[in-house]
Amino acid sequence: MNLSDEMVQVLRNSVLAWLATVDADGWPNVSPKEIFAPYTDPAGITAAIAIADIASPISVSNLRINPRACLSAVDIFRQVGYKVQGHVRIIAPCDAAFTEVSRGLLELTGGQYLVRHVLLLEVEQVRRIMAPSYHLFPERSEAQRVAQAMQAYGVQPVEPPTHS
Ligand SMILES: Cc1cc2nc3c(=O)[nH]c(=O)nc-3n(C[C@H](O)[C@H](O)[C@H](O)COP(=O)(O)O)c2cc1C
Repeated sequence: MNLSDEMVQVLRNSVLAWLATVDADGWPNVSPKEIFAPYTDPAGITAAIAIADIASPISVSNLRINPRACLSAVDIFRQVGYKVQGHVRIIAPCDAAFTEVSRGLLELTGGQYLVRHVLLLEVEQVRRIMAPSYHLFPERSEAQRVAQAMQAYGVQPVEPPTHS
């Protein structure tokens, strides 16, 4: 399954994603991840999302028992997101694939955090997430939605730098 350009953009605009796993008894566990990046293998066959295990012991131990997971990410300003389900491969620094799959994560951290494992979520099912306002107020433009979300969250747009 390929990741659409729009999906990649939404994932890049999402500052946080939530990773859901289950333990041996079926109890769900959900925790936030900031360091994640869309990943397509060099052959362009497998689409995935690489997630950094920096401090995620419960997610990792759950995934060792049951590799099924779901990641949700939302672009809070445009109020759209994606729910991605699939199986996770746990890739350790000693694995041959680690350098390749961790590249996008390294770009995000700038090497500031030790990535213990890459959790490679192979995309099997994708569902789009949309705020109810899309159905309730379909006439609103994206600019209006962004302006309203910024107001709701108390966020001021940053002025672009001026070059003298
Ligand atoms: C804003 C935020 C971003 C985070 N990003 C990550 C991350 O990218 N990778 C990671 O391993 N932990 C990250 N954490 C920390 C984990 O969510 C936290 O250690 C959590 O308790 C791990 O739970 P788990 O073991 O159930 O995954 C983040 C926490 C916060 C609050």
